Amino acid sequence: MKSEKFTVAVLAGDGIGPEITAQALKALEAAGRRFGVTFAFDERPVGGAAYDLVHDALPDETLAAAKSADAVLLGAVGGPKWDFLAPELRPERRALLTLRAELGLFANIRPVKMWPGLEDASPLKGEVVARGVDVVIVRELTGGVYFGRHVLSEDGARACDEMAYSKDEIDRISRVAFALARKRSGRVTSVDKANVLATSRLWRETVGRIAREDFPDVSLEHMYVDNAAMQLMRAPSEFDVILTENMFGDILSDEASQTTGSIGMLPSASLGAGGFGMYEPIHGSAPDIAGKGVANPVATILSAAMMLRISFGLPEAAAAVEQAVGSVLSERIGTPDVAREGWTRVSTDRLGDEIASRI
Ligand code: IPM
Ligand code: MG
Repeated sequence: MKSEKFTVAVLAGDGIGPEITAQALKALEAAGRRFGVTFAFDERPVGGAAYDLVHDALPDETLAAAKSADAVLLGAVGGPKWDFLAPELRPERRALLTLRAELGLFANIRPVKMWPGLEDASPLKGEVVARGVDVVIVRELTGGVYFGRHVLSEDGARACDEMAYSKDEIDRISRVAFALARKRSGRVTSVDKANVLATSRLWRETVGRIAREDFPDVSLEHMYVDNAAMQLMRAPSEFDVILTENMFGDILSDEASQTTGSIGMLPSASLGAGGFGMYEPIHGSAPDIAGKGVANPVATILSAAMMLRISFGLPEAAAAVEQAVGSVLSERIGTPDVAREGWTRVSTDRLGDEIASRI
């Protein structure tokens, strides 16, 4: 048995962040016990919670802890309570976007998969869902409009957000998508708005060149983002790997989550060049349900599974966590967002226990 020790910086954040993160820690502990690995959890304040403590949504100590850890687990940041802050001090910009940029996490991997038992939770027709949903969205995470200049004129009559991409930024994220497609069905759909945007024309040209030169075995299709949004609802089963820029990926991943029944099911990994990763659910801090014990912890638990597989090289441990999630769902145990008639409706904490006990 291996005896490895990994340090995880745990940034629970705001809203439902603390309650869902706590369930992922239980899953990691359980996986650690079963596979002979230990984890040191370095819990640090982030987001509005950190702002309330020290007037900074990303304190230096938190950033330093994230940088020195083996991986980062993030809950969620932001909420109406901090709406009064200047844009650059808000939790979303100061904490989340700064973490992504400072840690060089340019590749955001968002698997969208239909879990057996959740078919009825999806708003799509049974016949559409029955064809299966198993898509991975590869979202560029440190460029585009999120990181351009944002200006509001002094008289408040005009605003401008800059959307910029360099060839190199497109090049490196394309390679991530193509390499991933090779391990799957070998198909990439690159999503852009090349009929309007200059960044998208550069995107299309660069992605096409990488495919021709270095991934001739992968089949590449280009699609406009408006059409992609429609096709995702019409026939999600036709997609495999979706490669897209930062904002389109943000929007399409929320949309795609609905094919699976709940946004509370979707994990993500944000990766840098050296394989370092931050793992977070794709949903936000959901302040409206915070503290009520109804938040679905599965997205965060599955994010922890991605951490085990990608950052720690523990595929069996990752699979054990995913199987535990699959088994509670097949036993029809879930939080209210997924529980339908005939299900056992449980709290966030209880679902965390049920999953951990099956690992
Ligand atoms: C996400 C979130 C963030 C984003 C917000 C909170 C800034 O929506 O991770 O998808 O837009 O990237
Ligand atoms: Mg989003």
